[in-house]
Amino acid sequence: MDTKIIKINALDDKSVRELEYAAKIIKSGGLVVFPTETVYGLGGDAEREGSVKKIYAAKGRPSDNPLIIHVADAESAEKYAYTTETYYRLAKQFMPGPITVIMPSKDTVPLATRGGLDTVAVRCPQNPIARRLISLSGTAIAAPSANLSGTPSPTSASHVIHDMTGRVDVIIDGGECDIGIESTIVKLDGEGSVTLLRPGKITVDELLSVVDEVKIADAVTDELKDGEIAESPGMKYKHYAPKAELMLLDGERREFVSFIKESSEENIAVIAYSEDIPELSGIIPKENIYDFGSYLDKSMQAQRLFDILRRTDRVNYSRIYAPLPERTGIGLALYNRMIRAAAHKILNLRR
Ligand code: TXA
Ligand code: MG
Repeated sequence: MDTKIIKINALDDKSVRELEYAAKIIKSGGLVVFPTETVYGLGGDAEREGSVKKIYAAKGRPSDNPLIIHVADAESAEKYAYTTETYYRLAKQFMPGPITVIMPSKDTVPLATRGGLDTVAVRCPQNPIARRLISLSGTAIAAPSANLSGTPSPTSASHVIHDMTGRVDVIIDGGECDIGIESTIVKLDGEGSVTLLRPGKITVDELLSVVDEVKIADAVTDELKDGEIAESPGMKYKHYAPKAELMLLDGERREFVSFIKESSEENIAVIAYSEDIPELSGIIPKENIYDFGSYLDKSMQAQRLFDILRRTDRVNYSRIYAPLPERTGIGLALYNRMIRAAAHKILNLRR
């Protein structure tokens, strides 16, 4: 399959015409990779079983792992889901934005889109290219992250061009994703209560400004026990792990630096806070140090994480060390992604 790459910087007349072309591809059953504020999505018409099957095939994803449907505005969820007052409270505060809400599904959503479940995941993204593409398509766009199954979610056009060339009709290059980790996923429980299935940019505290109760699914922080069933099918699959063993170090920054200093291991990579790089540079080769951003700036760390993991995979390291993030704020999302990439390997440096 030939993949057409469209570069869009701003929504000028020319870009809108190109988005009209991409929307036609969606309407006629084709696949379009598009940028969102979180990560790139691999999109097809959510109402067409044929499109959804193509998405699973292009990604190499098991078909019982449901897709998020992307809508142009919060009210468009009505066509696809049984909404509640809590949904609209969340929507008022966070949509358009990096949140996905799971609700009982209407029959308008093919079973294939929702992996056979009776619920559907709805998200209204903020990225202007994504929003325009959805509204021009006149349908909901089903889209998982646009990575091949088993690689990190793509946060730049080069990542999707690497994974998806030849597998989709169009790739829209909209530059780097602002947030860099996938949306916060909540499932509606009773009125005023939600379960957090996947942490993201929108934090537990922010959710609590809108709802009375946020339960945190076990799989967010813990390993699933044998035979345990995840609330979100995505949590049961083996997650992306880098080729080299990733080891998370639990401790203060100075304990982290001392550990690397005292280690005699060769050929290691270190994902380090910017402030610690000068001290580490004397110890291991500069090119083996990956700048995670300031230790104070968790949003920047989130934005960089998947790109760093992709870059370390291009080198044959024997091991990668990274700090274990604190679980506060957006740190919970970093923690969740990193313990999965590390297959829960954590070394305690705290005395
Ligand atoms: O930021 C995002 O959410 C990105 C962009 C493209 O929107 N999308 C994304 O999709 O991360 P994906 O498919 O890579 O992750 C969606 C997760 C999966 O783990 C899936 O199992 C879960 O959402 N999910 C989807 N529908 C669900 C449902 N009805 N019930 C429970 N979990 C669901
Ligand atoms: Mg994904």
